[in-house]
Amino acid sequence: QSAKPWAGRFNAPTDAFVEAFTASVDFDRRLYRYDIQGSIAHATMLARQGILTEAERDAIVDGLEQVRARIEAGEFEWSIPLEDVHMNVESALTQAIGDAGKKLHTGRSRNDQVATDVRLWLREEIDTLAGEIRRLQQALLDLAEREADAVLPGFTHLQVAQPITFGHHMMAWFEMLDRDHDRLLDCRRRLNVMPLGAAALAGTTYPIDRAYTAELLDFDRPAENSLDAVSDRDFAIEFSADAAILMMHLSRFSEELILWSSAQFGFVELSDSFCTGSSIMPQKKNPDVPELVRGKSGRIFGHLIGLLTLMKAQPLAYNKDNQEDKEPLFDIVDNLKGSLKVYADMMGHVTCNHQRMREAARQGFSTATDLADYLVRKGIPFRDAHEIVGKAVALGVREGRDLAELPLESLRQFSEAITDDVYAVLTLDGSVAARDHLGGTAPNQVRAAIARARQRLTD
Ligand code: ARG
Repeated sequence: QSAKPWAGRFNAPTDAFVEAFTASVDFDRRLYRYDIQGSIAHATMLARQGILTEAERDAIVDGLEQVRARIEAGEFEWSIPLEDVHMNVESALTQAIGDAGKKLHTGRSRNDQVATDVRLWLREEIDTLAGEIRRLQQALLDLAEREADAVLPGFTHLQVAQPITFGHHMMAWFEMLDRDHDRLLDCRRRLNVMPLGAAALAGTTYPIDRAYTAELLDFDRPAENSLDAVSDRDFAIEFSADAAILMMHLSRFSEELILWSSAQFGFVELSDSFCTGSSIMPQKKNPDVPELVRGKSGRIFGHLIGLLTLMKAQPLAYNKDNQEDKEPLFDIVDNLKGSLKVYADMMGHVTCNHQRMREAARQGFSTATDLADYLVRKGIPFRDAHEIVGKAVALGVREGRDLAELPLESLRQFSEAITDDVYAVLTLDGSVAARDHLGGTAPNQVRAAIARARQRLTD
C-alpha cells in the first residue's frame, strides 16, 4: 500500500526522519477535492484524445469519486510514506480499481498537478472572501445610514481637526474595503490560468488537449509556457499582498474601535457579545475582537514576506521549496475569513454615544476652519483669515472656551468683519452641512454616497 510510486531507481529505503520531514500530506490533504477534480478532468481529456479507453476513464472517474467519498466520511487513511495528497489519492485509486488507476498520471506530473490544485482551491476561497467583504460592506452601509447625522470630531495627527459625520467616517472604511474586494477579484482573474499539460516542466509527448481540460475546470485558458506554469507562484504572492493590504485596513479600523470604545473617548460601544471580561478586574469589558484582528495583521504581513523570500532565489522550473507555499496560504485564508466574518457580525451591533462625540467635537476648536472660511466670504484673504482665527483660538485656549462660547466683542477684537451671524457657522451641524459636495461630510452627501454604494453593490 505504501510502496512509493517513484521507488524504482532507489536501492535503499527513505530514512524514516527524511520521510516525515519531506512529507506534506498533513497539510496538503486539505486540497483533496481540487486534486480529485483536476484528475477527473485530466482523465476525461485523456479519453477524449484516445490516450485512455472510455472504460478506463469511467473506472478512474468512478474510483476517484469513491476515494472522495471515503475522505469525506473520515474513512481514508492518510499515509506519510506516500508523501502528499497527490500520491495518497492516486495510490488509493489504484487500490480501488486496479491497473486503470496506474494510467491516470499519463502526461502529467505532480508539478503541474499541485500548481493546478492550489489555483482551483484559491479561486474558490477568493470567491468566499469576496462575499465576506461584501457582507461587511453591507453592515457598514447600514451603520452609516443610521448614523448619517451623528457628529464627531474628525482627526488629523489624532488631534481634533474638523467635525465630521459618523456615517461619513464609516463610508471611508467602505471605500477601502471596496478596493480590497476589487484587488482580490483582479488576482482571481490572473490566477485563473491552467498549469496542467506542463507536466514536469517541458510538456508531454502525448497528444493532449489542454484547452479542453481548461474548459472542464473553468479556467480561462491553459498557461502559455510550461516552465512558467509549474514554477509560477506569483498568484500566491499577489493574493498575500492583497490579503496584507486588507488586514492593514482592518487593523487600522480596529485601532479606532479600540480607542473609541475606551472611557476616554467613549464614542462607541461594542456589543457585549463581541467583548470579553477580565479574570481579575470585575469592571472590564475589553475589545478583544478588534485587538485580535489588529494582532493577526502581523502574521499575514509575515506570510507575504515569507512567500517573497521563498521564491526569490528559485531557478526555473519546479523546486521542492514550493511545498512551503501552502501553509502560509492556508493560514492567510483562515485568518482572513475569520476576521472578515467577525467584523461583519460585530459592525451590525455598534452603538454610538452621540453626546460624547459632540462634546469631543466642541472641545477641540473643530470649527476654526469654518470661521476662517466665513472671513474669506467677507472679503478677507485666506492667509489673513487664518491668522485672525488663530488668535481667537489662542484666546479660547487661555479662557478655556470654545469659539462659539466667546462673546461677540471678544471675537471682534480680532476682526471687525465678524458680526453676529458668525455663530451660525460655529455650530457643529452648520459646519458639517456646509461641506456639501460630492465626497464631503454633509449628511445629505453621505446619504447620496450610501445610495450610490448600494447601487454599486447590486451591479
Ligand atoms: N508536495 C509537493 C508540493 O507541494 C507536490 C509536488 C512535488 N513534486 C516533486 N517533484 N517533488 O509542491
